[in-house]
Amino acid sequence: METEELLYEGKAKKLFKKPNSSELRVEYLDQATALNGKKKDEIKGKGALNNQITSYLFQLLAEKGIQSHFIKKISKHEQLIEMVEMIPLEVVVRNVAAGSFSKRLGINEGTSLPEPIIEYYYKDDALDDPFINQDHIYYLGLATVDELEEIRMLALSVNEALQDIFEKINIRLVDFKIEIGKTEQGKMLLADEISPDTCRLWDSLTNAHLDKDIYRRDLGDILPVYQEVFNRLEKEFTSCI
Ligand code: TMP
Repeated sequence: METEELLYEGKAKKLFKKPNSSELRVEYLDQATALNGKKKDEIKGKGALNNQITSYLFQLLAEKGIQSHFIKKISKHEQLIEMVEMIPLEVVVRNVAAGSFSKRLGINEGTSLPEPIIEYYYKDDALDDPFINQDHIYYLGLATVDELEEIRMLALSVNEALQDIFEKINIRLVDFKIEIGKTEQGKMLLADEISPDTCRLWDSLTNAHLDKDIYRRDLGDILPVYQEVFNRLEKEFTSCI
């Protein structure tokens, strides 16, 4: 029997290629990292929660007309996805000032932004994923003018859809990061994951962090908080999926 090939091992996921297939199996790992891998811990149960939260969100986004590489969840910590060529960009969308935006520009965390702000980071571990602009993207050949416009429109649509989803479960979507892949036909698809690792999620009533800032900032245990996000999604949306 042909075995699967390990295609990629990252900080939070392993990707396996199925023989004679364009499908990949993703394993979500129980690993938390911050500061580009300088802070690292094993957190039992985190992989399963992120897999389940991402699976919910990709399915809910599909219902709103936003396709992703997600095919199906196959176990608590695994998904099947479509193989795409990843664009080495982290696309960040911000609705509220926080994190590196607040630090870089001296804007108080929690300040609402009148319009969503999109930022691009070049995915390169050796360079610590630097902040880049559109001209850098064209210069590095990461996307053409048309492709970047498509990426921008996709990021804004994901933002609207996610805000709608999170509003229903009393969560404020402060900011988030997405990654995008290209199919063989050149179609842009939302890829990677959407989870409390990749979003800033604040409780609408208390502003409590329901995301990885708990880990990044040593504010406590992330597992109960990720579980809370999952429970709210499950309670509100089980019947829709
Ligand atoms: P930042 O404020 O640290 O730039 O993060 C903005 C958003 O992007 C936040 O929701 C966390 C997410 N993010 C990632 O998912 N991966 C990363 O490597 C970074 C730097 C941020």
